[in-house]
Amino acid sequence: MMYDYLIVGAGLFGAVFAHEAKKHGKSCLVVEKRNHIAGNIYCKNVDGIHVHQYGAHIFHTSDRKIWDYINQFSEFNNYINSPVAIYKDELYNLPFNMNTFSKMWNIQTPAQAKAKIAEQIADLGITEPKNLEEQALSLVGTDVYEKLIKGYTEKQWGRSCRELPSFIIRRLPLRFTYDNNYFNSRYQGIPVEGYTAIVEKMLSGADIRLNTDYFAHKEELSALAHKTVFTGMLDEYFGFCYGSLEYRSVRFEEERLECDNYQGNAVVNYTDREVPYTRIIEHKHFTFGTQPFTIISREYSSEWKPGIEPYYPINDAKNSALAAKYQELAAKAERVIFGGRLGNYKYYDMDQVIAAALDCADAELS
Ligand code: FDA
Repeated sequence: MMYDYLIVGAGLFGAVFAHEAKKHGKSCLVVEKRNHIAGNIYCKNVDGIHVHQYGAHIFHTSDRKIWDYINQFSEFNNYINSPVAIYKDELYNLPFNMNTFSKMWNIQTPAQAKAKIAEQIADLGITEPKNLEEQALSLVGTDVYEKLIKGYTEKQWGRSCRELPSFIIRRLPLRFTYDNNYFNSRYQGIPVEGYTAIVEKMLSGADIRLNTDYFAHKEELSALAHKTVFTGMLDEYFGFCYGSLEYRSVRFEEERLECDNYQGNAVVNYTDREVPYTRIIEHKHFTFGTQPFTIISREYSSEWKPGIEPYYPINDAKNSALAAKYQELAAKAERVIFGGRLGNYKYYDMDQVIAAALDCADAELS
């Protein structure tokens, strides 16, 4: 059979495209190299706890159209992301807000917090920040930087903040209200049935081949469809002809614990350098689980090298220039559409990837 579309990658981009194509009466073959669908939003159900295997995923958007779109596939709960940070033996609310400042300086009013931060910034006398450390210090002062930013950022990048460029942190939002809601988005929540069920519904009606690496069967698979939607790595598609695009990676260490509540919150950041992981996720709190056991994941930020899972594109000058060269090739490729975080070499939140896939489907199918 000749399909209308061969979709490489059963992640959110590929699934939204497949769903839209099906609505237009088109046929799709989806190939996925992993042994499961849903890409990085995959959740496995462990005795009733949805474990976010590739990192915590909280859906949030301010776009009503995207919120309505995703709600077709699942009901969402009222989870609000309110992470906390542990620095040595001190605990602070995130994002940086009046709860954080009140705990840090034993103050109560926004005016007191603003005065404290302004005083610390003035004492430093930084006029032109030369690196990330100076940039962060000039935005938030010494205490917030030392306790909540420095160690965490150094673990994330594997380098000292003095060696990191200042552009990584352009702004550091400070909130002068007692509001621990991490996101400013209008809509937020976790799908009650889990993300995998959403992708399963999106893909219904498409033929799916798991454990199938497109590159191992490129000619044969491409010959099965009129057009290819490619959501794998952009540079790999072109045989790394200009060299490899770089990423930061994350290693997840999962553990089942025979206690009902390990840390009292879904997300706890560890902001001192000495603790080797950046965060611990306790999955059951995303869905207010009441199981007698719990599952946690420790996240270790790591260097990426070819062969390990790529997570965050690096938007420095070198990688941006390289990506632009590959994007020129992609624009010229015939009968191939490039999409998603790997195909576009771009960090997308889930709502952004849905919007991009809908735009792409609209341009292609209407
Ligand atoms: P995705 O990577 O999911 O799918 C691509 C698929 O293609 C993969 O399944 C891959 O195996 C497959 N593939 C690649 N090459 C192939 C080949 N050669 N042959 C066959 N298959 C191939 N967003 C958000 O809104 N809220 C959040 O809280 C988070 N949290 C978060 C945490 C972490 C650690 C990360 C890294 C990212 C997030 N995100 C997020 C972002 C979210 O993960 C992202 O928007 C989507 O998963 C992107 O979906 P894609 O389909 O683009 O890629």
